[in-house]
Amino acid sequence: MNGKTEAAPVLAVEGLIAEAAPPAGSPQAPVRLVDGVSFSVHAGRTLGLVGESGSGKSVTCLSVLGLPPARVRVAGGRILLRGDDLRSKTPAELQALRGREVGMILQDPMTSLNPLLTIGRQITEMFRYRANIESRTECEARAVDLLRRVRIPAPESRLKSYPHQFSGGMRQRVAIAMNLACNPGLLIADEPTTALDITVRLQILDLLREMQAERGTAIVLVTHDLHLVRRYCDNVAVMYAGRIVEQGPVEAVFAQPRHPYTSGLLGAVPRLRQPQRRLTVIPGQPPLPGSIAQGCRFAPRCPRADADCTAQYPATVEPQPGRSVACWHPEPASASAAAPSAASRAASVPLERLPLTTAS
Ligand SMILES: Nc1ncnc2c1ncn2[C@@H]1O[C@H](COP(=O)(O)OP(=O)(O)O)[C@@H](O)[C@H]1O
Ligand SMILES: [Mg+2]
Repeated sequence: MNGKTEAAPVLAVEGLIAEAAPPAGSPQAPVRLVDGVSFSVHAGRTLGLVGESGSGKSVTCLSVLGLPPARVRVAGGRILLRGDDLRSKTPAELQALRGREVGMILQDPMTSLNPLLTIGRQITEMFRYRANIESRTECEARAVDLLRRVRIPAPESRLKSYPHQFSGGMRQRVAIAMNLACNPGLLIADEPTTALDITVRLQILDLLREMQAERGTAIVLVTHDLHLVRRYCDNVAVMYAGRIVEQGPVEAVFAQPRHPYTSGLLGAVPRLRQPQRRLTVIPGQPPLPGSIAQGCRFAPRCPRADADCTAQYPATVEPQPGRSVACWHPEPASASAAAPSAASRAASVPLERLPLTTAS
């Protein structure tokens, strides 16, 4: 945390559009999976990207990484890494960036580790190619250091293991270790701990936070777990059906959500001081991409929706500095929820006693 909030962001995504091509030969138009998404992340900061399953979080991340899924292409917007538009890069340039300046940790590290090569071989090769270290002994020594850094027990002998011989948590640590080695300015972590149990989940995220504190990494953390957002993120962007509906500092958004979707999500988390309060889960399902042609995509599920909402998509407005909301009828700003104290963030109930919020 450099304390200089006016510094340029490490990553600025502006009006990102990602579209899925229709099946070959089909007369249908491409379907927008991500529709005008904008956010930015500064050095040493973490942005939480949240929303129900299918809201476009992964497509957003993969598009930023230059790795959109099959049949999906980035059709608009800018992806600025320290001001440099990644959309103008060649695939080879993007690949080089992913090795060095942009790290990624995905839900299943098996997808980024080669199952046929030992962990040691993968880490030493990474040092050889990315850091141009020739000496095998030097590479191995560094690999042992790295594994030790992410607290893999007996790292010397563990270098000889294959990925499948590691637990999910250990594989995720290896993925973090490999990212650490490259010292990326930006790290995109898409549900990095969803497959892991709660204790391991916190260990992994603590490790990421440690790395961030040392190196000032900007992190985009995708999660459907709002407790993790509260604990690890500075800012939060709430996605619904391909768009960001609300964005702002975590404390402010959690204390006083303005978009009905955000308050629905938060309503599913028990309030700390009202443990008996019934959990509200937003009724209904998110729409399929492309199924709502006009108006707010949340309108069919929204308790505040009226004719305005189905007529036209709401513009994104800034109800308070640093916050944005795309809603015709945002939740009113109530005085009682204003100015969240530092204590509200610190007063955390043990996480394992709280349910996860949305199905994802
Ligand atoms: N390759 C693809 N082709 C067509 N549709 C896709 C493809 N990948 C994802 N989608 C659709 O895009 C939407 C957003 O998906 P995704 O970004 O994976 O959601 P999330 O990560 O928020 O759960 C979903 O409706 C999903 O079915
Ligand atoms: Mg996803």
